[in-house]
Amino acid sequence: MAIAMKIASQISKSSWIRRMFEEGERLRQELGPDKIYDFTLGNPDVEPPEAFGRELQALAREPLPGMHRYMNNAGYAETRTAVANKLSADSGLTVGPEQVIMTCGAGGALNVVLKTILNPGEEVIILAPFFVEYKFYIDNHGGLPVEVWTNHETFQLDIPAIEKAITPKTRAIIICSPNNPTGVIYPAESLKRLGDLLKSIHNRSGHLIYVISDEPYARIAYDGQHVPNIFPLVESSVIVTSHSKDLALPGERIGYLAANPRMATVMQFMEGAVFSNRVLGFVNAPALMQRLVAKLQNESVDIAEYQAKRDLLVNELSDMGFSMVKPDGAFYLFPQSPLASDVDFVKLAQKHHILLVPGAGFGAPGFFRIAYCVEKEMIQRSLPAWSALAREAGLKG
Ligand SMILES: Cc1ncc(COP(=O)(O)O)c(C=O)c1O
Repeated sequence: MAIAMKIASQISKSSWIRRMFEEGERLRQELGPDKIYDFTLGNPDVEPPEAFGRELQALAREPLPGMHRYMNNAGYAETRTAVANKLSADSGLTVGPEQVIMTCGAGGALNVVLKTILNPGEEVIILAPFFVEYKFYIDNHGGLPVEVWTNHETFQLDIPAIEKAITPKTRAIIICSPNNPTGVIYPAESLKRLGDLLKSIHNRSGHLIYVISDEPYARIAYDGQHVPNIFPLVESSVIVTSHSKDLALPGERIGYLAANPRMATVMQFMEGAVFSNRVLGFVNAPALMQRLVAKLQNESVDIAEYQAKRDLLVNELSDMGFSMVKPDGAFYLFPQSPLASDVDFVKLAQKHHILLVPGAGFGAPGFFRIAYCVEKEMIQRSLPAWSALAREAGLKG
C-alpha cells in the first residue's frame, strides 16, 4: 500500500461528511444546484463583517515594513495583547499576551495543545456527540480517546459519567460549548462542578487533568444567552478557538490558544506550546490575518441571521414530528433519527435531495446533523422535501 495502513483505515472511518459532500456534488451535477438541499458542511454562507474588508484595504493601501516576514512563533505581540484584553474582559481575570499563542485555526490549536501535554498512551476524554476530528488529533500525538456520553436527553455534561471514566492515565477532557453538533451551551454551574472535581483530584493525588475548551462558536449564542468563560470556573483550562465561524474566515486559518493564568504550571505549558507550534510545522499563524483580527476582537457576523434560521428549522421540523433539543448557539441541529438506523435515514433523505450527516459520524448513532449555515431561502425551498421525508419515515410530515 502506498500510504500508511493507519491513514487508510482512518480515511475509511472518517468519511461520512466527505461521502455526503461527494454525493451532493454528484446530485448537483445531475439535477442542478437548486434541486439539492445540502445541510452537510459547517462552512459559513455569510461574508465576514464589513470591518474585516475595511481593515484589509487599509493594510493593503499602507503596508507595514516587514509584514510578511517570520515572527515570534507565538505570534505578534499586538495581536496577542488584543486577544488577551478580550479574554480579560470576558473572564474577569487578568490574562496577558504571554498566555496567548496565535494558531492556524482551532484545529491547529488543538493539535498544539495535545502535542504539548500528551505522553504516549495517555487518555483524553471526549464527550459524545463530538466533533469527529478530536479522535484523529488525539491519535496524532499518541493519545487514546475515551468516549463518554453527555446526558442523552439534554446533551448537557454528565459529571458522574466523566468522573467514572477518569483513570490514572487521564490527561485531558475536551469540551465544546456552544457545541458542534448539538448546539447546547454548558452553564457556568456545571463547568464549575467539573472544575471542582478536577481540583479535588489534583489536591488529593497531584494528578493534573486539563480541560481543553474548544470554543469556535463562542460568539454565536442565541436569545441573549452568554457563553460562560471557562477560566474562573476550571483552573486547569486551556481555550482553543478560531475566527473560522464568528468572523466567517475558515479558509484563512486564524485562531488562538490561551492558557488559564491561574494554572500553577502556566509558564511551562506556554513554553511547551510555543515549541509545539513551531515543530508541528505551523511555525506561526498567518501574518496578515493576525494584523486584521487584532482589530476585530469585538466583531462578529450577524448572529440574528443564524438565530432566524434556527427558529425556522426548529419550528417547521418540530411541527412535522421531528424531535430535537433546541440549540442555544452554533449553527447545527441534532435531531433524533425517526428510523432505527441514522444511516438508513440519511440515505432516505438523499432520495428527497436532502443531504445530512448521520449521528454515527459524531459517535452518536440514532441522531442526524443539520448544518444550517446555509441561505435562508434554501431552507424555505427545502421544506416540502422535508415534509415528504418525514411522512416516508413514519412521522406526521
Ligand atoms: C467543534 C469544532 N472544533 C474545531 C473546529 C476546527 O475549526 P478551525 O477551522 O478553526 O480549525 C471546528 C470546525 O468545524 C469545529 O466545529
